[in-house]
Amino acid sequence: IRVFVPRDTTALSLGADTVASRLEKEAAARGQPITLVRNGSRGLAWLEPLVEVETPIGRFAYGPVTPGDVAALLDNGLLEGSVSHPLALGPTEEIDYLARQQRLTFARIGITDPLSIDDYRAHSGFCGLEAALQREPQDIVEEVKASGLRGRGGAAFPTGIKWQTVLDTPADQKYIVCNADEGDSGTFADRLAMECDPYMLIEGMTIAGLAVGATQGYIYLRSEYPLAKEILDEAIRRAESAGYLGGDLLGSGHAFHLEVRLGAGAYICGEETSLLESLEGKRGLVRFKPPLPAIEGLFGRPTVVNNVLSLAAVPFILAEGAEAYANHGMGRSRGTLALQLAGNVKRGGLVELAFGTTLRTLMEDFGGGTASGRPLRAVQVGGPLCAYLPESQWDMPLDYETFAEVGAGVGHGGVVVFDDSVDMAEQARFSMEFCKVESCGKCTPCRIGSTRGVEVIDRIRANDNRDANLTLLHDLCETMVDGSLCAMGGMTPFPVQSALKHFPGDFQRPANGDR
Ligand code: NAI
Ligand code: SF4
Repeated sequence: IRVFVPRDTTALSLGADTVASRLEKEAAARGQPITLVRNGSRGLAWLEPLVEVETPIGRFAYGPVTPGDVAALLDNGLLEGSVSHPLALGPTEEIDYLARQQRLTFARIGITDPLSIDDYRAHSGFCGLEAALQREPQDIVEEVKASGLRGRGGAAFPTGIKWQTVLDTPADQKYIVCNADEGDSGTFADRLAMECDPYMLIEGMTIAGLAVGATQGYIYLRSEYPLAKEILDEAIRRAESAGYLGGDLLGSGHAFHLEVRLGAGAYICGEETSLLESLEGKRGLVRFKPPLPAIEGLFGRPTVVNNVLSLAAVPFILAEGAEAYANHGMGRSRGTLALQLAGNVKRGGLVELAFGTTLRTLMEDFGGGTASGRPLRAVQVGGPLCAYLPESQWDMPLDYETFAEVGAGVGHGGVVVFDDSVDMAEQARFSMEFCKVESCGKCTPCRIGSTRGVEVIDRIRANDNRDANLTLLHDLCETMVDGSLCAMGGMTPFPVQSALKHFPGDFQRPANGDR
C-alpha cells in the first residue's frame, strides 16, 4: 500500500517527518507494511501534513495529521481509505479547495515524488522540451508570445517579447537567469514549484535556453530556502545523468548547463539588476536601465531574467500549445495566476486560478474568512510594495489592468489578509520602515525618503502638527514615486497612499489607541 507524506518546508515544519516514520513503524507493527512516498505538497497549507493513501479508486486524504493521530488513524482504516476518522477528507481530488482550482503550472505538485524523473515523465514531464527540440528558436519564441504569458514576478512584462530581445541580440554567450529570490511577504509559490516539481523549472529554463541561444543558466535562490537548494541540486544532477541537461540534450547536439547560486538575504537582490550584480559576486546595488538585461545582463551578455513561475509555465505552453494556455484568463491577462493566501486567514495555501477571480472569492470561499474569526478589514495583494485594498475593491476581477486602474498591483500573487484589529497607520509606517531597512542606498528619494517617511508618520500618529505632516507625507510619496531609480523606492508609497486614502481614520488617532 502506497502512503504519501509530503516533504516540503511547510509540511516538515509541521512535523511531517515524524508522522512519516510513525506511520511506517505502526503499520509494520500491525502486519501491514506500507510503501512510503515523500511527495511534494498539494499546496493546501491549512491541511498539512496531508497524508494520502492510494486505494483502487484513487487517493484518499487525511489532515492535518499530527504524530499523535497516527495510531488512531490506522485503527480506523486509514490504509483502506476509510472515512470514519474525523481527519478523513475523502478523495483528495474532491477536496473543494483543490477541485475548484485550475491547475496548469501546479498540475503535478503533491501528486509526484519531486525527485523522480520517471514520475515526472509519467505526468507529461519533458514533453515541452521534446517539442522545443523539434522547433526553431523563433518558433519557440512565437509560441510563448502567442500564449500571452507575462512576467509572474510582478512586473507582468510579456515573456515572449523579452525572449525576442535576447534572441535578436548577437553575442558569444547568453544566459538564462531564474529569479528565485522570492521575497514578497506572504508568498511561497516559487518555493512550492521548486520543492515539489523541480524538473518543471529545469525544463522551462532549458526551453528558454533553446529559444534564445543560451547555453548556461543560473537559479538565483534565496538562502532562506535550504530545502529548495537541496532538491534543485539533486534534480539537476539527475537531469544531467538522464540527458535532460548538459552538453548534448537528448542527443540533439544542443547544450544547456544549470547551476544554483544562493543569495544572502537582501530583499533588493530580487530586483533583476542587483540580482545580476550579486550573481557576479558584487554587492547587490541596482544598475541603471538602459541597458536592459536582455541586451547587457550577466557579465555584460544578453540575459533572460525570469521569475520561477514564468519559466515554470513554459513547459505546459510548449507541450499543450499556446492556445491551451491563452484560453484561460481575461483581457490581456492570459493563463493562470498562482495566488498565495496568507496572513490572518483560516485556510491559507496555494490557489491557482485563471485571471478574473475576485478577492472576495479568494478570502471567503477559499480562505474561509479570518483565522481570528473577526471581520475582514483589509488585504494587501502583491507584496510589501503594493496597495492595501478595502472591502469596496474586493469584487473587481483580479487581472493586471483592472488592478492597475485603481492604483493596486497583482505583483507575484501574494494575498495577505488582515482582520478589523489592524492599524493601517502602523501598516503604512511599516512600509516606510521596510524600505528604509532594505533600500540599496543608491538613490536619494528611497534612501533618505524612507527614513523621513517613518519620522513623518510617527509625528502624525503623535498628533504633532498633523495636517502639515499629512501634506508632507503626500509630497514625500509623490517624490519617491517619481524620483526613485527602481521599484523599491518607487512603489513603497503605494501601500502608504492606499492606507491614507481608504483608512484615513487610522491616521487620526494616537498609536496603539483604541479603535
Ligand atoms: P520593469 O517594468 O522595469 O521591467 C519588467 C521586465 O521587463 C524586466 O525584466 C525588464 O528588463 C524587462 N523589459 C522591459 N522592456 C523590455 C524590452 N523592450 N525587451 C526586453 N525586456 C524588457 O519592472 P521591474 O523593476 O523589473 O520589476 C518591478 C516589479 O517587481 C514590481 O511590479 C513588483 O510587483 C515586482 N516585485 C516582485 C517581488 C517578488 O518577490 N517577486 C519583490 C519586489 C517587487
Ligand atoms: Fe536602491 Fe531604493 Fe534607489 Fe532602488 S529606489 S536604486 S533600492 S535606493
